[in-house]
Amino acid sequence: MFYNVDCIEGATQFLKDSSVDLIITDPPYGIGGDMLHKHYNRNEDFVLDGYIEVPKEEYYDFTYSWIKEAERVLKPGGAMYIVSGYTNLIHILNALSRTQMKEINHIIWKFNFGVYTKNKYISSHYHILYYVKPGAKPTFNTHSRYSDSEKDDDSNGSLNYQDREDVWVINREYKPGQIKNKNELPTQLLAKMIQYSSNEGDLVCDFFLGSFSTAKVSIGLNRRACGFEKSQIAYSYQINEIEKVESGSLLDSLRTPPANNYFNQGKPIEENEKKEILNRYIKMKKSGMSKKKIIEKLGQDIGRGPWSLDKIISASKTPETLIRNGQPKLFE
Ligand SMILES: C[S@@+](CC[C@H](N)C(=O)[O-])C[C@H]1O[C@@H](n2cnc3c(N)ncnc32)[C@H](O)[C@@H]1O
Repeated sequence: MFYNVDCIEGATQFLKDSSVDLIITDPPYGIGGDMLHKHYNRNEDFVLDGYIEVPKEEYYDFTYSWIKEAERVLKPGGAMYIVSGYTNLIHILNALSRTQMKEINHIIWKFNFGVYTKNKYISSHYHILYYVKPGAKPTFNTHSRYSDSEKDDDSNGSLNYQDREDVWVINREYKPGQIKNKNELPTQLLAKMIQYSSNEGDLVCDFFLGSFSTAKVSIGLNRRACGFEKSQIAYSYQINEIEKVESGSLLDSLRTPPANNYFNQGKPIEENEKKEILNRYIKMKKSGMSKKKIIEKLGQDIGRGPWSLDKIISASKTPETLIRNGQPKLFE
């Protein structure tokens, strides 16, 4: 359900304790966001009027009040992602520090179209504060987007590792000629948070709906959505738009990670398997293969990830010593 009310009143009135699985929200910035087009020098013809700002002097109290409500309505283990610029970031961090919410990551979102400035660096990032309500195991779908064995074609690095680094480079969407909200969050950014921190059927809430972007992507990914927007103009336009979004309509656009080739990952390693790994390492090393290539080959054959193989090989000084001493003896 979506409500055209102040989020603090709305949450108090309509949301029960521990009823929401995930909150993704982008509060007003407290920097005269209703005048942002002056900084961006952009054509506002297609931007909906009615963005409601929070006066700077009220920002901390306002922030603390909505964050307390957000904490109350989240289920234990539920995650909250707050998108913020740096001007009032301190108030959001201070408010969070007065709750039980646990910081998991401080993510930097780097985007294009930063505000152009001539005599200083151009600001082109936002902060995304990823917190979890304690009390249960959080949902974190580590392999929802990339499996552990997928490699980057250029650098040979792990795609799963890269996707889970805490600096995200995701461009804003350029939507010429389409009605939009100020500072609409891109679908790709929202999908990433939703995929990692929720499952199909979960309830995702946005306290500051704006263009309803969080809700649209959540429904598209077959989650349920709810939230609040105080602006009557934004609400009455978007409440019709959201009706057009079909549940699950975005699921086909997601990549399906291939099955993990490291089929033995996570299983305990027996002594016999360790010996086999070390023996095969010795043989391949003696045939002139590099350590990197051997680990790749062993990974495919034995189904273990590069880190665990490297750990076994590095923990045993023996293979290198045996090879250096020219001893062909293998482990028995
Ligand atoms: C930064 S925008 C959100 C943008 C949104 N994430 C999007 O992608 O379009 C903040 C929104 O919060 C709304 N707002 C401001 N104060 C509010 C309040 N007390 N309760 C609910 N919404 C509020 C503003 O009108 C604005 O639409």
